[in-house]
Amino acid sequence: MKNNSMIQRKMKLPGFIITGAIAGVITLLFAFTPIHKEKTTPPCAGKANPVAKDAASLEAGKSIYKFKCYSCHGTNGKGNGPKCEELDKTPQDFTNADFKKQTDGDLFCKITEGKTVMPCFKHQLTKEQRWQIINYIRSL
Ligand code: HEC
Repeated sequence: MKNNSMIQRKMKLPGFIITGAIAGVITLLFAFTPIHKEKTTPPCAGKANPVAKDAASLEAGKSIYKFKCYSCHGTNGKGNGPKCEELDKTPQDFTNADFKKQTDGDLFCKITEGKTVMPCFKHQLTKEQRWQIINYIRSL
């Protein structure tokens, strides 16, 4: 009898380890679920612009715009830059009322992540630069 229960105890040990491992995997799956949720609703859409719309930020935004955005979006943001003819889509007119209805956070998302043929600027521009450009294109 004594020997039997010893064997049973030895047999149960791997069971605990397996149960522990499964519980661990399930916990990890739950831990990673919020990341997927964030991707479907970009958290930046509701963000307020932390950069003041002053002369300095408009000037900074303007110089980045000339360098990075002008070729497609054109001098006055009309969507008629010299590179436009090569594109499959025409950029929106930044002076249009419908465009202006969008929040700064919406624009920040689109500049950060890109949109169809519009390139993403997540790695090319700092967050501050992206907000400065938003201030500038709002002034057009
Ligand atoms: C290669 C050309 C190209 C460059 C460079 C480019 N864009 Fe665009 N952009 C586009 C096109 C085309 C669209 C329209 C995409 C669509 O609607 O699918 C667009 C869309 C946008 C939109 C979204 C408009 C809306 O109402 O949905 C914003 C904001 C924008 N661009 C800002 C910028 C800024 C700021 C820069 C510079 C940092 C820039 N773009 C550089 C081509 C470009």
